[in-house]
Amino acid sequence: MVKAGIWGVGIGVPDRVLTNKDLEQMVDTSDEWITSRTGIRERRIADPAQATSDLALLAARKAMEDARVDASEIDLIIVATVTPDSMFPATACLVQAGIGAAQAAAFDLSAGCSGFIYALEIAARCVEAGAYRRVLVVGADTLSRITNWTDRSTCVLFGDGAGACVVGPVKQGGVLSMYLGADGTGGDKLHIPAGGSRLPLTAEAMQEGKQYIHMAGNEVFKFAVRIMGDAAVEVIRRAGLQSEDIELFVPHQANIRIIDAAAKRLGLTPEKVFVNVQKYGNTSAASIPLALAEALEQDKIRPGDHVVLVGFGAGLTWGAAALQWNAEEDQLR
Ligand code: ACO
Repeated sequence: MVKAGIWGVGIGVPDRVLTNKDLEQMVDTSDEWITSRTGIRERRIADPAQATSDLALLAARKAMEDARVDASEIDLIIVATVTPDSMFPATACLVQAGIGAAQAAAFDLSAGCSGFIYALEIAARCVEAGAYRRVLVVGADTLSRITNWTDRSTCVLFGDGAGACVVGPVKQGGVLSMYLGADGTGGDKLHIPAGGSRLPLTAEAMQEGKQYIHMAGNEVFKFAVRIMGDAAVEVIRRAGLQSEDIELFVPHQANIRIIDAAAKRLGLTPEKVFVNVQKYGNTSAASIPLALAEALEQDKIRPGDHVVLVGFGAGLTWGAAALQWNAEEDQLR
């Protein structure tokens, strides 16, 4: 069976930076509280005219350039997001039109911050099955649009961004194992109450702030600490590896304390853990591909390295991937 690997990556982030100091002017918080409880120092915020598909397009174009793949070669586009431009058409279709990938099927995937890993699994299996040969996977979110900027317990955590990769067939290595899961009984721990078929968006619902993210922070925190460790251990086991074989751990960037707890569980030293939460905050589905692309840019991943990606999010969901990074010569063009 043919294997699937990542051929290229790219990111798209808005220019505007919102610092913890800026937030001090908006809600009753402090730089010290945010930094010590979350590790976040600043985040990017989309311009009013910028939607999720605009950030997704920036990332997609860079990933295609990095992979040396033309839009005409892309045969499937998956955009993981919880903040589509609108309920429909799918943001993936807007990306398809934007890059001009006329041959590509396109759909969105909703799995919260685990969305990129979910999409990566689908892309990898499609390539392995021979059904598709060049899959564009994008994680993109503009959480600033669904954040209540008067709620200090959530607004300090989130930011906007997009990360993308092109998945294609490889001779060896690539995606070694994956592990996805969900616990729908925890759905109400992290949700948007209004704006769907259960509670359509009315003036009354808006007055109560039900169009925004509602989160039981402490319960999500406990779930995250447990599941990040469990998912990473399981995906490493499925790949037939040990923790000490991992050259780089690229976790979902939600909170430095969650990342540290997972790294400790795996017995990883700090130089084996990639962190950029201080720059972007929690960018939801964009978080892992943003971190992966920056790790590559900083030369922290070399061909042959074993890389573990792991995330958790709304659903509740979780997902992990173990990869062996490919050299360009491994790509089956
Ligand atoms: N500034 C100052 N004080 C604050 C702030 C703030 N921004 N936010 C909360 N506080 C206060 C609280 O009111 C509380 O005060 P009290 O003790 O007087 O009641 C105190 O700080 C402690 O609050 P906790 O909630 O216990 O703080 P904790 O240390 O748990 O950190 C946090 C809160 C950062 C939200 C943490 O629980 C967390 O990271 N949870 C996980 C969030 C997450 O990762 N979500 C994933 C989203 S994934 C997706 O799909 C979008």
